Amino acid sequence: MNKLIGSGINRKDGRAKVTGTATYAAEHQIPGLVYGYLITASIAHGQITNIDTQTAEQAAGVIAVFTHNNVPQIFKPTNNFMASKIYEARLPLADNQIHYAGQIIGLVVAETFEQARHAAHLVQVEYAPQKPVLEAKDATFQQALTMFGEEIKFEKGDFATGMRDATGKIEATYTTSTELHAPMEPHAIIAHWQDADTLTVYEPSQWVAGSQRTYAEIFGLATEKVRTITPFIGGAFGCKAFPWPHGILCAAAARKLQRPLKLALSRRQMTANTGHRSETEQTIRLGANAAGSLMAIEHTAQSFTSPVDTFAEHCTSITPVMYAAPNLRIDQELAQLNIGTSTFMRAPGENPGMWALESAMDELAWELKIDPVELRLKNQTKEHQKQGLPFSAKHFAECLQLGAEQFGWQERPQQVRSLTRDGKLIGSGMAASTFPSLRGSASVKVRLLADGTAEILTSGNDMGTGTYTVVAATAAEALGLPVEKVQVELGDSLLPDGGIAGGSMMTVSLLPAVMKACEEVLKIAKATTAQEAFATLHQSGEAAWEATASAGPGGEGKQWVFQSWGAHFCEVAIDEEIGRLQVTRWVSVMNIGRVINAKTAASQIRGAVTMGIGHALMEECHFDPNIGYPVVYDLATYHFPTHADIPRIQVTFVGEPDLNFNPLGGRGVGEIGITGVSAAIANAIYHATGKRIRDLPITPEKLL
Ligand code: MOS
Repeated sequence: MNKLIGSGINRKDGRAKVTGTATYAAEHQIPGLVYGYLITASIAHGQITNIDTQTAEQAAGVIAVFTHNNVPQIFKPTNNFMASKIYEARLPLADNQIHYAGQIIGLVVAETFEQARHAAHLVQVEYAPQKPVLEAKDATFQQALTMFGEEIKFEKGDFATGMRDATGKIEATYTTSTELHAPMEPHAIIAHWQDADTLTVYEPSQWVAGSQRTYAEIFGLATEKVRTITPFIGGAFGCKAFPWPHGILCAAAARKLQRPLKLALSRRQMTANTGHRSETEQTIRLGANAAGSLMAIEHTAQSFTSPVDTFAEHCTSITPVMYAAPNLRIDQELAQLNIGTSTFMRAPGENPGMWALESAMDELAWELKIDPVELRLKNQTKEHQKQGLPFSAKHFAECLQLGAEQFGWQERPQQVRSLTRDGKLIGSGMAASTFPSLRGSASVKVRLLADGTAEILTSGNDMGTGTYTVVAATAAEALGLPVEKVQVELGDSLLPDGGIAGGSMMTVSLLPAVMKACEEVLKIAKATTAQEAFATLHQSGEAAWEATASAGPGGEGKQWVFQSWGAHFCEVAIDEEIGRLQVTRWVSVMNIGRVINAKTAASQIRGAVTMGIGHALMEECHFDPNIGYPVVYDLATYHFPTHADIPRIQVTFVGEPDLNFNPLGGRGVGEIGITGVSAAIANAIYHATGKRIRDLPITPEKLL
């Protein structure tokens, strides 16, 4: 019964998911449901001069057609991350302006989905097009700020002097492609108004309480007038954290019509208006002395946002974190393109940032003829060089050393192009991993029931990461109950505010509140275990013992920087004649503080490495240079790894509980695993072939 935390118990929601009984947003059955279909812009920049909805309105089954000429009332939310947040500051159908191809310009509501879709194609739109800005070479760059409006530009020491005195020097430019989220569960929403002022939203949301507050602001309502329900999410990674324009429009139309309305997006629509990771161009300059100590680091980056919101891919956030140098300079620029708004995607900033920095470190290692593991060990930093604070419970060196040992790093040949197997070139590569450890406030209710079970209730939810499972294990351990006796209910805004499933912080924010609520309920029951509590409950005549508790970060952030660490080692096999690459071996060693569930934590790393292999080798979205629409359509044209592309991924965790961070000592594991993956692969490709590839994805034509 004890020691559930840290062991590898099975997923609580596993059976519901594999048997299809887990209900996703669009699957909810509501009597009287009607269906929406979006009308989207076919130009990337300009104005609508006329939109003729007459034929569509008269088509079979059509209930209403909404455009900017009859937009239902929508208020601007505070949009500041604290109270409320939307992905695009411009509200849907705000005016006749077109800022990107695929922008929502209308919504048809009909009795059936097919009728709504048919009628949407009957709407005639006339435009006054303007020339769109679709490529970096035509864009105007400005200084980039963080998502909180803070300055990114930073310099310590004097980079130019440090570089002048260096003996080993590297300067290189690295690029990444636009990447789509492509979650398995497409974006969909059902908006159901019980009356003119009471709304229930069924929508995949990484932030149930935030979504509730945001929709309430949008419709001028008190928070408790809106209920958001998200028990399950079929993949999110950052694209389902806040309402998108389609969700806002659906809820507004449903209010106007007083009919429950379902709006599901097609894969084609999702490529244009539900976020993506911006392409990036990054330049790294490194200078080191002959012994391999870094004297100077410079990292500059460019990324893109849309005309309707601001989002900078914060690539340089990792640069003051990874390696110590007396002279360090970072800077970023941002430009608008006439494409949809870029947004958060698993390790936003850290993932492309580590692609560039960890590729450059490999180039420097070859230049100086120093082992790349050795180079990293030599240049570790004890403190965050921008914040000037030490890292808490940092075990980066163990990740590097154990990873090298498990992989057999020392056995690899020291020259490029020196190993073949079955006619293929074989190469080994490694790179580091890192991600900051964030923590928010969370509240949880626990109920001990007369039937001998415990219920744990919170709006915090599970986007596939394993929240149901770790909450159950933590409560079972705190209460002294078998895990089967713990029921977990998540993802409903009627329950206490459990915070956001983002920034790798759901588990580490929620579990301290779970522990506290369990302690409280035992106190109320005057018991030390749940079994004793059930006995006192029986005598008391009450239906349940209940307690609600909250936990959040304290003042610890003023003394420490919380950051997680890791190292990836991989082997690739390349068929030179056809440019075919297979990743054949993978070893990841991670330092994430205490591991809460060995099985789901390792799964997070495996999923992240898989996503990283896609980032490295396959994922790219290009935009038609004339019309600005993505030239990928669906899951067949947008490539990412399938099972046959992925080797066995060996995952090990090292280190100690980080008790400075939270009472459990866990630091979060959702995002770190993707960082460094693409660099490890490119570094292995260099070892195999002698060819340095600096532009992702590394598709066969780049290998030929
Ligand atoms: Mo994640 S990009 O914080 O959902």
